[in-house]
Amino acid sequence: MKSLRTLLGTWVVALLTASCTFDREAHPQSSIHPTSDFASVIHELYVDIFWWTLGILVVVWVALAYILVRFRARPDQPVPKQVHGHMGLEIGWTVAPALIVVAIAIPTIQAVFSTQQGDPENALVVDVIGHQYWWEFRYPDSGLVTANEVHIPVNRPVSFRISSADVIHSFWVPMLGGKRDANPVRLRPEGEDPEYNWIHLTASEAGTFWGQCAEFCGASHSLMGFRVVVESDQEFAAWQAELAEPVTAPMTAPVDTTEAGEAAQAPVQTAQIDPLVEQGREIFHSQTCVACHAIAGTNAQGEIAPNLTLLGQRSSIAAGWLENTPENLVQWITAPQDVKPGALMPGVNVPGGNWPATNLSEEQVRAVAAYLFSLR
Ligand code: CUA
Repeated sequence: MKSLRTLLGTWVVALLTASCTFDREAHPQSSIHPTSDFASVIHELYVDIFWWTLGILVVVWVALAYILVRFRARPDQPVPKQVHGHMGLEIGWTVAPALIVVAIAIPTIQAVFSTQQGDPENALVVDVIGHQYWWEFRYPDSGLVTANEVHIPVNRPVSFRISSADVIHSFWVPMLGGKRDANPVRLRPEGEDPEYNWIHLTASEAGTFWGQCAEFCGASHSLMGFRVVVESDQEFAAWQAELAEPVTAPMTAPVDTTEAGEAAQAPVQTAQIDPLVEQGREIFHSQTCVACHAIAGTNAQGEIAPNLTLLGQRSSIAAGWLENTPENLVQWITAPQDVKPGALMPGVNVPGGNWPATNLSEEQVRAVAAYLFSLR
């Protein structure tokens, strides 16, 4: 008995401390720490239903315990009266659960409709497009594009317009709210708007939130993550401005022929230009990379692979799967399919999608990684 009490006590304490000291870093995909209006509606419903069902559990257990004790078999007792069919009981245990289901359905349906409203006047629309196995994000109002790490402003309504470029995926950021399928866009007849799924929310806290594809979509479904960076209006505007006009180091150092200019600029330039980055830039922009990837402000304008503008600023690569470090970029460029089976990017020795192996040397791979990491 004592060990049971100790066990229960430990469990309750663990539960309480776990809920009191929520560590976002340790549990980045918690669905019970809502940080948007949408997530809060779901969470409140979840908590309400939890307590109701706990109440039902207690009633059932108390009744069960009473019956087990009160009517337990005793020596010398006659066999109790046998009952076959009891209209009152049968109606009771059919109607009671039905009423419970109705009681749960009413607030659930209310919650579903309350989260479908959106704010067409003020909402920032973000197109979410699922790909095997990464996420594309487009801002239709500014025409800006990014991949795998989307930025949104805090305390402002955002409407995610969700679709897919290939198979069915599902867009889910547990802390910001429920999930929605990303369906291949179905065109309606006679030029009507295509059908999209939407998530409308207003994030209430700044921070970086983890998302995950939540619909099985192929070999690397479980590796199809992303990040949502929620930031202040000013930070969001600054990020968008940078995305629109990223500062990329010049291909070759501009030559200032005036004596004064040379004196003033020479030290700055030598500090700025990393030969490895320069080498990487030349390789990236002269190889097949540019057929699929885009980097704003350069000749890379491919649209079938993740947009790499400001890649160095992202916290992760390979759709949320690897931390963004030069070493991991090298690993990814060398053998993408080893990280993510089914990835369409060719590796150094392995073809990918419709492309042959890149045949880059180790040094060239390091250079490309250095270049991509420098895009910040
Ligand atoms: Cu995309 Cu699962």
